[in-house]
Amino acid sequence: MRTFKFLSLVLVVSLLLSACGGGASKEVKIAILAPLSGPVPTFGVMTRDGALLAIEEWNAKGGVNGMKIVPIVEDSQCTPDPAANAANKVIDQDKVHYIIGEVCSKASIPISDIANGKKVVQISPTSTNPSVTVGTDGKVKDYIFRACFIDPFQGQVGAKFAMEKLGAKTAFIMLDQANDYVKGLAEFFEKSFTEAGGTIVGKETYTSTDTDFSAILAKIAEAKPDVVYLPDYYNIVNLATKQAKEKGITAPFIGGDGWDSSDLDLAAAAGGYFTNHYSPEDTRAEVQNFVKAFGAKYKDDSGNPKVPDALAALAYDATNLMLQAIKDAGADDPTKVKDALTKITFNGVSGKITYDASHNPVKSATILEVTKDGIKFNSVVNP
Ligand code: PHE
Repeated sequence: MRTFKFLSLVLVVSLLLSACGGGASKEVKIAILAPLSGPVPTFGVMTRDGALLAIEEWNAKGGVNGMKIVPIVEDSQCTPDPAANAANKVIDQDKVHYIIGEVCSKASIPISDIANGKKVVQISPTSTNPSVTVGTDGKVKDYIFRACFIDPFQGQVGAKFAMEKLGAKTAFIMLDQANDYVKGLAEFFEKSFTEAGGTIVGKETYTSTDTDFSAILAKIAEAKPDVVYLPDYYNIVNLATKQAKEKGITAPFIGGDGWDSSDLDLAAAAGGYFTNHYSPEDTRAEVQNFVKAFGAKYKDDSGNPKVPDALAALAYDATNLMLQAIKDAGADDPTKVKDALTKITFNGVSGKITYDASHNPVKSATILEVTKDGIKFNSVVNP
């Protein structure tokens, strides 16, 4: 009898709450779409963890506009179809209005078309290909933003570094044409390198499932370029640079942000350089506070504080940007939130963010050097 009374009370209270909309308006959902499985799992884990840290910090301060922030994490696998499925699931089933993700451009592009069509705000922390925020028709996707610089800039920084700092006059490019990020970055590097008077002495393609690069490496050994440009993710970089060393190729490999992983094979990639978004060694207060908070929350296998990479930093920035925009908009209203984003000035871990007309931040790039003992800060390049 007592249990029955108690249950009826619970029922009445929850009916009342839902009738007033009280249950629903007290929280705001943020979807985190990240590649937790598939070829590049460190990208997904770091992205998820950076985003969750930001949400935890906001919730500890009372949420946003009095609403508790509820994260919904989905594995989008750095692959177009699973990414589209994850986007449809969080939008249609979970009814989210806000998406943080994906990491990989080839996954963010299909997500952006779905999100923009359904008026859901998306901020990709790390997808650098221009087509994430601008459609094939040349129109800016109203609801889509990113927290990182774009590849025309990243490719130019790589090319300038190769020529000015390494004295390179010739380069060989290796690329996976089916990967929007790799293909785009290779093109932008080539354009900048040749415009500045350099020569591309060879360009060879492979596919994402290749594991044996000996045919391409034989051509590199013959062409003897000053540098090899390999703008792919760490899983490919590990295989190609290891096989290059075994073949006795000494030309430095240069790449982009896709090299950034705790699973980058340092011995194989040593002597190489890559362009990136941030360095945890940066002494700015934003960076050091973030490194401390991240290390306090997350530990590596031996129990030491985890050092956040660029993926974690940008996911943290993207989530803070989204929450700041929700706060500025004063409502859980994606149309107002996207308007707030276009006007935002935000001091992030990865630098100061304001948006240009194409919803891209204008930010500096960091050049990192790979040594067998770790990744070393080299220099910062401003746009
Ligand atoms: N920029 C890459 C892309 O667009 C993703 C990436 C960013 C990977 C940063 C690692 C670090 O696909």
